[in-house]
Amino acid sequence: MAYKIGVIPGDGTGPEVVREGLKVLKAAGERFGIDYEPVEYDFGGDRYLKTGETLPDSAIDEFKKLDAIFLGAIGHPDVKPGILEQGILLKLRFSLDQYINLRPVKLYPGVETPIKDKGPEEIDFVVVRENTEGLYAGAGGFLKKGTPDEVAVQESINTRKGVERCVRYAFEYTRARNKRKELTLCGKTNVLTYAFDLWQRTFNEVALEYPDIRTDYAHVDAITMWFVKNPEWFDVIVTDNMFGDIITDLGAMIQGGMGIAAGGNINPESVSMFEPIGGSAPKYTGMNIINPLAAISAVGLMLETLGEREAGRAIERAVMTVTGTRLKSMAAGKMGYTTSEVGDIVSELVGEGAP
Ligand code: IPM
Ligand code: MN
Repeated sequence: MAYKIGVIPGDGTGPEVVREGLKVLKAAGERFGIDYEPVEYDFGGDRYLKTGETLPDSAIDEFKKLDAIFLGAIGHPDVKPGILEQGILLKLRFSLDQYINLRPVKLYPGVETPIKDKGPEEIDFVVVRENTEGLYAGAGGFLKKGTPDEVAVQESINTRKGVERCVRYAFEYTRARNKRKELTLCGKTNVLTYAFDLWQRTFNEVALEYPDIRTDYAHVDAITMWFVKNPEWFDVIVTDNMFGDIITDLGAMIQGGMGIAAGGNINPESVSMFEPIGGSAPKYTGMNIINPLAAISAVGLMLETLGEREAGRAIERAVMTVTGTRLKSMAAGKMGYTTSEVGDIVSELVGEGAP
């Protein structure tokens, strides 16, 4: 049966990188006999400016019938910050209960990292970020807003169920990844003594079911230090929504920047969404110079999550060949190729089934 893939190109350079991702998906589909049907949606800043609509509930109902979603970028210079992020991206994650944000941090060959003396051998870990709770849950409010006595409260919501399913996913992922089989909990148990107490207890309890996985704990501030100093210490890291947001931007930088970082918003029981984690880069829109590799890698991650392992790996290998032997730089305008040329090269390599 054909996979139904929802495609949301979105804003800025989103459509350009999505085009290349779809090109590579087509090549992978042909090579590995994967049947799929793309269904395009025009949600994003332009539609919002025209109609005032971000993501209607009817779209969510439609999304629930898809097998996966591929999203380019959300963010428009003429729309007040927060509207599209909350109205589209977060609404999508929350209403499809995509409770895992999976963000691999892997330095590919030929990609420059700002971390001195570290290479692909040392930078290869995965962050499992909780994606539906914590500070992102939207709990809180104002009191006496706009007065000198104003109070703003923003609460972090951590449920046993939400924490446990995330931690469990991380243990399973660490086992299946089968690398160093080590899972690190990233928190702040020395200050956030309620939220991370729950995290720590849950983590310890679930760990008993995974005697083959070594466990470790690190405070979030220390982890930002170690990402820079000793990235080789990490295999898989599990953390809450806010800390995961912050440490994965640092992760993206050490793996070579936003042009290369991809992520999955995963509901293991239902519809997941895959995206390059960089923004819409409006200043490069329509110039055919943005790096599409993050979007292409997002397609790889999507295929892998759908169970099309071989195709996912073929895309990753092709991307590694391109970074290792073709591109001069990962930065927009400095790749030595246009956006569409990079898509063509990766597609060809995937089609040939390059080793
Ligand atoms: C991300 C982004 C989003 C987040 C924003 C755009 C709402 O930074 O995907 O990491 O904070 O999760
Ligand atoms: Mn972020």
